[in-house]
Amino acid sequence: MRYFENESYSYRNDVLFVEDVAVGDISEKTGTPVFIYSKKHISDRFRQFADAFRDIDHHVFYASKANFNINVINIFRSLGSGIDVNSEGEMIRALKAGVAPQNIILSGVGKTADEIRAGLDSDVLMLKAESEEEIELIAKIAESKNKKARVAIRVNPEVDAKTHPYISTGLAQNKFGINEKDAESLYLKYNNSRCIKFTGIDMHIGSQITSLPPFIEAVEKLSALYFRLKSQGITLEHFDVGGGMGVVYKEENPFSIHEFAEALKPHLRKLGCKILFEPGRFFMANSGILVSDILYTKKNDKKNFLITDAAMTELMRPSLYGSYHNVQPLIRNKYPEIKADIVGPVCESGDFIAKDREIEDLKQNDKIAIISAGAYGMVMASNYNGRRRPPEVIVDGDKYFITRSRETFDHLLYDEKLIKELI
Ligand code: LLP
Repeated sequence: MRYFENESYSYRNDVLFVEDVAVGDISEKTGTPVFIYSKKHISDRFRQFADAFRDIDHHVFYASKANFNINVINIFRSLGSGIDVNSEGEMIRALKAGVAPQNIILSGVGKTADEIRAGLDSDVLMLKAESEEEIELIAKIAESKNKKARVAIRVNPEVDAKTHPYISTGLAQNKFGINEKDAESLYLKYNNSRCIKFTGIDMHIGSQITSLPPFIEAVEKLSALYFRLKSQGITLEHFDVGGGMGVVYKEENPFSIHEFAEALKPHLRKLGCKILFEPGRFFMANSGILVSDILYTKKNDKKNFLITDAAMTELMRPSLYGSYHNVQPLIRNKYPEIKADIVGPVCESGDFIAKDREIEDLKQNDKIAIISAGAYGMVMASNYNGRRRPPEVIVDGDKYFITRSRETFDHLLYDEKLIKELI
């Protein structure tokens, strides 16, 4: 079986540590399931990214949809990152973490009028627009507030990011963005609007992208549009490359951030404006694990099952995308290897963490770590089957902090009323 290790997660005498803390010490305190994140991993990855682009004028806006724990956002803020938010709810989190509004980008393919109002009231750096109707609505709301809205159009460059179809966003069949031709006319049409100031051009072609050509092709296409706009009198302050840089879950071989930077910089330098990035997964995926207890083991003629207390409700990625997450014991090399399905307690056959996985022949109440769970884990968690969302812990060196405790049943029943007249 494979034992994933990185600079934050490693075995010491066969005991899994996160930085300088034994994972089992944390889960004993919090119970399971529990999400644990390494602050070191976040800072290291952020610094690698910033370093790769240090010689061009850029600003990173961490995409908080990957993990919107306010302490995670606060770590990014302290590293100098801005925050990309996809809704008013994420914006409120960023503001609560102390992020200055001018360091927030408000994204989202279907922003409501209330969200646009909230973005304008908070005076965020810019709102992205993804349709003509949205530009119209932004203009109308800005006018009612006597404001000039800073807007970037998200352009769909129609390139194939060669990733899972559910997380591919840069093709004409995807709901995201506006094609180049229409975007060009919209920039020209609304450029003299009293209430819109176009500050940028934006792309985001998908997520978990492991090869460079789609990025290069998209940047080339949007650079050409940038210069066409410039020649028509529209000079933009920002060129936003989006996020989507892939990471290792299993045996992927993604480009290094250095390779990414070297491939894109020649194109980006020519633009002569500020370059923005919005990575989420790149920083967070391998900063986090989900620790779970083996509630039961069972076998039939065909399969071994390990039934865990973590489920699709905590980590939906395997059920939704068939994603691979490494699974390994907190104490290793105790048992021989078997092949097993690792499944949760939710009442769905689609509720699995791993299928036919080689893993040690673990016993009831052994604990496991589900790896690469720092991005798109807790943020996608649900209360299905009446389950409470788990606690989140951040480790910093030999210290750890419980940033949020397990939900209570009172949280689950919050504001739900038993209406007597209904029977
Ligand atoms: N910017 C925009 C406009 C986005 O839509 C996204 C992700 C990002 C940035 C950050 O992308 P990243 O660097 O994290 O790839 N739930 C899926 C991923 C959905 C990504 C949605 N958009 C998953 O678990 O794989």
